Amino acid sequence: MALKLASRGDVAPFLVMEVVRAAEARAAEGKDVLHLEIGQPGFQAPKGVRRAAAEALEGDVLGYTGALGVPPLRARIAAHYADTYDLDLPERRVAATTGSSGGFLLAFLACFEAGDRVALADPSYPCYRNILKALDIEVVPIAVGPETRFQPTPEALQGLGDLAGVIVASPSNPTGSMFLPGELHRLARWCDDQGVRLISDEIYHGLHYEHEAETAAISPSAIVINSFSKYYAMTGWRIGWSIVPEDVIDGFERLAQNFFISPPTLSQIAATAAFDCRPELEANKAVYAANRKVLLAALTDRGLAPAAPPDGAFSIYVDSSSLANDSGALCKAMLDEIGVAATPGYDFQPTDGGRFIRFSFCADQASVAEAARRLKTWRL
Ligand SMILES: Cc1ncc(COP(=O)(O)O)c(C=O)c1O
Repeated sequence: MALKLASRGDVAPFLVMEVVRAAEARAAEGKDVLHLEIGQPGFQAPKGVRRAAAEALEGDVLGYTGALGVPPLRARIAAHYADTYDLDLPERRVAATTGSSGGFLLAFLACFEAGDRVALADPSYPCYRNILKALDIEVVPIAVGPETRFQPTPEALQGLGDLAGVIVASPSNPTGSMFLPGELHRLARWCDDQGVRLISDEIYHGLHYEHEAETAAISPSAIVINSFSKYYAMTGWRIGWSIVPEDVIDGFERLAQNFFISPPTLSQIAATAAFDCRPELEANKAVYAANRKVLLAALTDRGLAPAAPPDGAFSIYVDSSSLANDSGALCKAMLDEIGVAATPGYDFQPTDGGRFIRFSFCADQASVAEAARRLKTWRL
């Protein structure tokens, strides 16, 4: 007899994994693959982080910690907000989490009930939608386009009916686009006035190439989600942080105690050192900046102009509809014919993803330069 299964497990899989599998199959045949589909840094965690981890492994017990993290990490994160954004945040509002992914789960659980409506841009990072759905929270897509750099505005939210929350990301994945200066703060004020909980994913802060990123932590009611995964090149360490409003922090902590006990202790200790590794991290960023320039030129040359200005993160989202109707088929042909792996837009944009492709440029410089060269000469 079939046993009962919860529909929660029916969330959408990551379709990018199909691209990864196809790329692996090609590599197994001995053919080369240039990986522009993967969104994780190709760099090691900075030396200072690895050194702190090695010392902790030798000297510390590495037991559980408080659910919101060890005091030195929380204090160092608060100091980062003072240094970078000129913001004075009490340490009790800083929570270390198991990656930003852990932060999302806790934020959604602490702020939204099943049946609540939460808006997010279409396209967005797919896990927002999938976690919300698994929690029976209604996802309300915000139609965004090039006129707002694919970012939501108060005007776009006004027509969407009653909302419990809105999720934004600047720089965004997949588009790499950012709010222009002042726009995130305008949205944060609107949300605060309207009683809509703003959740701002700031995981790509530090990786911006045209102008600085603003934080939603200026708002007393916004939750900021961040992570050591991207700028700090620590994806597998599973460590991130959230800035949590006063009215949410106690519930957030109780949920964290019950869901996770504590974030990974070794990673907390190591991550405390990450803020002092700027020269190495800025050198990594210079590689991304060079890759971005080369890839952007090749894509534009090839008629694949970015859908939004890729001002940050490490991806470029292009409208491929002038070359083919189905970006999935186009990505397959690109992999088969020139060995360049990229991600069709379906994961990010179930409605219209067939028109778009995301190219990541966090691979090594030689691979990105070679991919750019092949793209320029590729004829369908
Ligand atoms: C926009 C965005 N947010 C969050 C995450 C999750 O990151 P992590 O859980 O490693 O902090 C990712 C990962 O790719 C991402 O692109």
